[in-house]
Amino acid sequence: MKLIFAKPAMPSKGALVVGVLEGRKLLPTAQAIDAKTHGALKRAFEASRFEGKKDQVAILLAPPGTRLSRIIAIGLGKGVEVNALGLEAFGAKAALEAIASQESDVALAVDAIAGCKLGLGEMAARMALGARLRSWRFDRYLTQEKPDDKPKLKNLTLLTGEVTQARRAFAPLVALAEGIELTRELQSEPANIIHPESMAARARELTKLGVSVEILGEARMKKLGMNALLGVGQGSARESKLVVLRWTGAKNKNAKPVAIVGKGVTFDSGGISIKPSGGMEDMKWDMSGAAVVFGLMKALAGRKAKVNVVGIAGLVENMPSGTAQRPGDVVRSMSGQTIEVINTDAEGRLVLADALWYCQNRFKPVAMIDLATLTGAILIALGSEYAGLFVTDNKLSDGLVRAGEATGESLWRLPLSDTYDKLIKSDIADMKNVGDGKAGSITAAQFLKRFTNNVPWAHLDIAGTAWTKKDLATVPKGASAFGVRLLERFLAENYEN
Ligand code: BES
Ligand code: MN
Ligand code: ZN
Repeated sequence: MKLIFAKPAMPSKGALVVGVLEGRKLLPTAQAIDAKTHGALKRAFEASRFEGKKDQVAILLAPPGTRLSRIIAIGLGKGVEVNALGLEAFGAKAALEAIASQESDVALAVDAIAGCKLGLGEMAARMALGARLRSWRFDRYLTQEKPDDKPKLKNLTLLTGEVTQARRAFAPLVALAEGIELTRELQSEPANIIHPESMAARARELTKLGVSVEILGEARMKKLGMNALLGVGQGSARESKLVVLRWTGAKNKNAKPVAIVGKGVTFDSGGISIKPSGGMEDMKWDMSGAAVVFGLMKALAGRKAKVNVVGIAGLVENMPSGTAQRPGDVVRSMSGQTIEVINTDAEGRLVLADALWYCQNRFKPVAMIDLATLTGAILIALGSEYAGLFVTDNKLSDGLVRAGEATGESLWRLPLSDTYDKLIKSDIADMKNVGDGKAGSITAAQFLKRFTNNVPWAHLDIAGTAWTKKDLATVPKGASAFGVRLLERFLAENYEN
């Protein structure tokens, strides 16, 4: 689907989408159409009991006095809170209806809405972003799809009085969308396709955008003493990898970077502490944190963000085998701290222990933020509405929470406190990798904190938000890329110069 910005004009073919406020309040384009069709639009609303409530749809076929195939009216609700996210949701809904119409050319009228602070250009750009994000699909393996099930929409034209502003506003959003799409794609690929080796290879493609890419293999990690990470991957036929990405966009090339670290367990079988088979296929998503790191770097490089960022992904496959790590094994992490591996399924924290230590040790970042599908317990606490936020610095916390609200990728802060440390005390090592089952997300965060060396740090537990079981406003069911928008925004607001 191509997104086009053009001056408002009545299209000579295809479908036209218009927004309508609650109470059947017509915006200017709809008003013009209603007049042109001698009131047919309003009669269609009455006939279909369309009120203009949010996401309601009414369709007028072959409207008289026009050459359109149909007019699709979409409810905007009261319109009082039409902000960027609301406009994205509207654009998304418009794209879905446009696709359902089976037309190849659809126009979407961008009208001013009372109370909306954005200009017509910015409004059009937001709608276009929503349309793009919602109509993305992962159909690589659907070889037998019926032609009728395939989207036929070729051009979605946004009719806006501010074409130049729209194009200018959309350019950075295209970079964002490309980043999100990379993340979603990597997430969606099954674990036989995306494993540590192939995922690391995908990172190389970011070189084209000016991202520096380094890939550490097992020999190099062994030399560095990263035995916690290596232990998780030692049962796999695939080689573990640590990917280091660098985007140096700040005016001062030597300015200390912000670091983003992702858990990249390309499949989490649980290892010897094997998971039950029901639902185990969901563990292909366990590399989502690392996929967010890739997508975020792509989004930043794509719009030449003026910020220095390091992205690190710990890529491993957690498998049971004759070479796999056993419950009770003790590993010496890169930090020197020893860990008793009570449960091989608590592997994310082992991977991050070495990735975080390596990150702060090498880059001395101003702040370090990790993303990980770390605990099932975060789903018990927060469901899929918020990701868990654990953070050692209040300013960092505020910035992240604010970016979450602005992007719809919401965070809820949970405690870090040394009082939980007793739960991960081991008899034979410096710590063990699980607590007693209570406060599981907190003990996991408390474990990670030991590998941050007091660098301002935030941990995002995205186990409940990395993928979605139902369609959301701008996220189709499946990979959500949760974290890309959030962190792109967070970096723009707090670190770009
Ligand atoms: N990858 C899982 C966490 C997870 C669960 C992510 C559900 C997404 C959905 C993680 O590695 C894991 O297995 N955690 C265990 C920890 C336990 C053994 C202490 C868990 O949450 O059960
Ligand atoms: Mn696990
Ligand atoms: Zn896991």
